[in-house]
Amino acid sequence: MCGIVGYTGKGLALSPVLEGLRRLEYRGYDSAGIALVVTKGAPLWIEKRAGKLGNLEEILGDAIPESHSGIGHTRWATHGGPTDDNAHPHLDNEGKLALIHNGIIENYVELRAELEKRGHTFKSETDTESVVHLLSDARKTHKGDLAAAMREVCGQLRGSFTLLAIHSDEPGRIVGSRRNSPLVVGVGEGENFLASDVSAFISHTKRALELGQDEVVDITASSIVVTDASGKVLPHREYEISWDASAAERGGYAHFMLKEIYEQPKAIADTLIGRTAGLDPEITAGIDLKGINKVVIIACGTAYHAGLVGKYAIEKWADISVDVELASEYRYREPSVDAQTLIIPISQSGETMDTLMAMRYARSHGARVFSVCNTNGSTIPRESDAVLYTHAGPEIAVASTKAFTAQLIAMYLLALHLGRVRGTLDSKIAHEIELELAELPAKVEQVLETVEPLRELTRKFKDSSSMLFLGRHVGFPTALEGALKLKELAYMHAEGFAGGELKHGPIALIDTGTPVIAIMPAVGTLLAEKMASNVQEVKARGAIIIAISDAPLASADHLIRIPSTHEFLQPILSVVPLQVIAYEMAIARGNDVDQPRNLAKSVTVE
Ligand code: F6R
Repeated sequence: MCGIVGYTGKGLALSPVLEGLRRLEYRGYDSAGIALVVTKGAPLWIEKRAGKLGNLEEILGDAIPESHSGIGHTRWATHGGPTDDNAHPHLDNEGKLALIHNGIIENYVELRAELEKRGHTFKSETDTESVVHLLSDARKTHKGDLAAAMREVCGQLRGSFTLLAIHSDEPGRIVGSRRNSPLVVGVGEGENFLASDVSAFISHTKRALELGQDEVVDITASSIVVTDASGKVLPHREYEISWDASAAERGGYAHFMLKEIYEQPKAIADTLIGRTAGLDPEITAGIDLKGINKVVIIACGTAYHAGLVGKYAIEKWADISVDVELASEYRYREPSVDAQTLIIPISQSGETMDTLMAMRYARSHGARVFSVCNTNGSTIPRESDAVLYTHAGPEIAVASTKAFTAQLIAMYLLALHLGRVRGTLDSKIAHEIELELAELPAKVEQVLETVEPLRELTRKFKDSSSMLFLGRHVGFPTALEGALKLKELAYMHAEGFAGGELKHGPIALIDTGTPVIAIMPAVGTLLAEKMASNVQEVKARGAIIIAISDAPLASADHLIRIPSTHEFLQPILSVVPLQVIAYEMAIARGNDVDQPRNLAKSVTVE
């Protein structure tokens, strides 16, 4: 949700800033802009345009300004529409101070009124512009010290933010700060970077620094100073980035989403590695898993669906009651939480504001937090008591695929761990599940080898007004996930239902020719027969049945065969064709697969 990048160093700034924006564009693509210090003390060089980064690149042409420090921003609009004027960077009235922002300044209306009274002129409708004027005044009070000014201004802001600022009186200096929104430092040789995430600078350096809440960072080509809100200098928390630049590139695939779909066998294998025979007990050190009496999973979107699957596994294997909560709803209900509650936030980015806030609420009421996350060093794992990392690698496409299957794996591992620690899981059953888990990478590979015909099948339904997804047991959250993928990529009405629930209302939606994707439970299970009846019910009313099944199904108009596996693990296999169908449908309907309209990855506002 808004990508932010800053460069200072011996090289020319435009190229690394543009490269950073290209890599961060998945975070928002309503507009893009760059500000550079070209001449000391003169107004900054600035270009910004509404729309995707390509629009900005077009007007930049081949011009490369002689500048060694600058900032760039790619926007997901919150306050003010996606226009040139609302695009970042925003400037002070002298045009010498530029600011970019990710997040929401909640008290911007009162700040703006006050600043206008003091004579500041505003050019945009954004919440951000108030901050640049505040910073401009504060810098004067602090005799030109931008970092001191930033500390003072942050103290006046409510809401969430990552801020980066440059001033033309101080070429080579960039000052940043963060609260509830991500910012990392890239540590280079004779150059340094600031960015929303490490992908922005991964081709330049693999050394990164974490920044904590309300910290201010002040960088030049040769120095990095991190301070807390009071100005006290803090030690560096440096880490090595474990993946390389190629992981964040398309590598010959038409889209990041397709690449990430095909990376699932590896994401699953990497998440399982060294863990199939049990999690390292150290991982949960400090949490008394035997003493908990309730598990609450909090997550959003796709991660929420992974949580729903996790509920089935944890309740069955660890015999403990599990609630799965939409993070955005959770804390506002003021639910009862105590020290016996185990909170499991699930998040690919580790920065989703709704999830973070829900988790903080639970923590403040005494709950212990064991998070599942794909992004090292992000806020959610940093604020957790324990973390189980998924190893899906960087996920760039806005629609989540490999992070989801890796999250499912994490949930199975966690459920097995809880079952073992609590003594509720028979060791023979645990062993059987472990063996099945180990086979999943090869089975997903098998599914991927057979998805080619889905292109043609999908095209048959390209003009349908709606598509329904049915599932039971763990197939129900899979159906929800299939529907979500189709909505966000194909902009088509899609809904997931529990098979048994249809007759209580939704069956009225079925008409002649309505495509229905039925996720069939594993053959031989009790629910396979029940689901077969549900399929017959919709077929009798004219639906066209596309079944995903590990066995033949007479009522299917189209059958997508998947390998057999343990019934709880089936979503890992059945979701893959659903991802491919959504991908193909987006292409068939002429949509942008990696950057679907109105969306952005890493949702850092509530
Ligand atoms: C859908 C999708 C979103 C995310 C959700 C949570 O394809 O990607 O629904 O799953 O925004 O994001 P994380 O996992 O980063 O907390």
